[in-house]
Amino acid sequence: MSLIFTTEDGSHSIFSKEYGVSYHSKHGAKTETQTVFIDAGLKFKAATSKNISVLEIGFGTGLNAIMTLQEAISYNLSIDYTTLEAYPLTDEETAELNYGQILGAEMETHFIKMHQLPWEQKHQLTDNFLIEKQKRRFEEIDFKNQFDVIYFDAFAPTSQPELWEEPLLQKMYDALKAGGVLTTYCAKGVVKRTLKKVGFEIEALPGPPGKREMTRAVKLQ
Ligand SMILES: C[S@@+](CC[C@H](N)C(=O)[O-])C[C@H]1O[C@@H](n2cnc3c(N)ncnc32)[C@H](O)[C@@H]1O
Repeated sequence: MSLIFTTEDGSHSIFSKEYGVSYHSKHGAKTETQTVFIDAGLKFKAATSKNISVLEIGFGTGLNAIMTLQEAISYNLSIDYTTLEAYPLTDEETAELNYGQILGAEMETHFIKMHQLPWEQKHQLTDNFLIEKQKRRFEEIDFKNQFDVIYFDAFAPTSQPELWEEPLLQKMYDALKAGGVLTTYCAKGVVKRTLKKVGFEIEALPGPPGKREMTRAVKLQ
């Protein structure tokens, strides 16, 4: 069971009763996605390449995905987007989200279509955006040198500690190509130290509203 609420920038988020946490910052879901994933991850990579493969850990509401699609159209990027979701939201829940209203009519159409797409298949949603949604846990999958960008957007270490420990952070490192980048809203010291231990170069960047810092981790060439 989940509850939809409005965050401080007017965009919706969801509170998960199972995990006792919300999907986004209460200070602004859209602003958080823009800062952590679009600006620090996608745009960082887009400075050197227009063809970008993205792995998202935690599809959830689809906000990161639709804002990535919007960016792809605006900057003529070619995105190959793979997103994993262990516990999909229901159609009733996603139908209530106000991202279409906030991002405009064109994005609303894509957002609805994106949620209707079947799982485990690649779909060319627009000329700029290929997407595959996988209804699986990250733990189950082995990707090797496949992605330019990882949006690490699972629930926080307090809710899902195992996802933030060395074995799975090592799997994320292995999933990236050389020069690939992982971004996360999390700036905990122990997580940054473990990211370094598995081989990443770490940067602490200013976080979205309500968070002093976030983390960008780069897999060096
Ligand atoms: C913080 S929410 C963010 C979701 C999404 N990026 C969004 O903008 O709505 C975390 C998401 O990760 C999913 N998740 C949790 N554990 C996972 C796992 N082991 N593998 C894949 N997804 C997972 C949750 O079900 C939830 O949808």
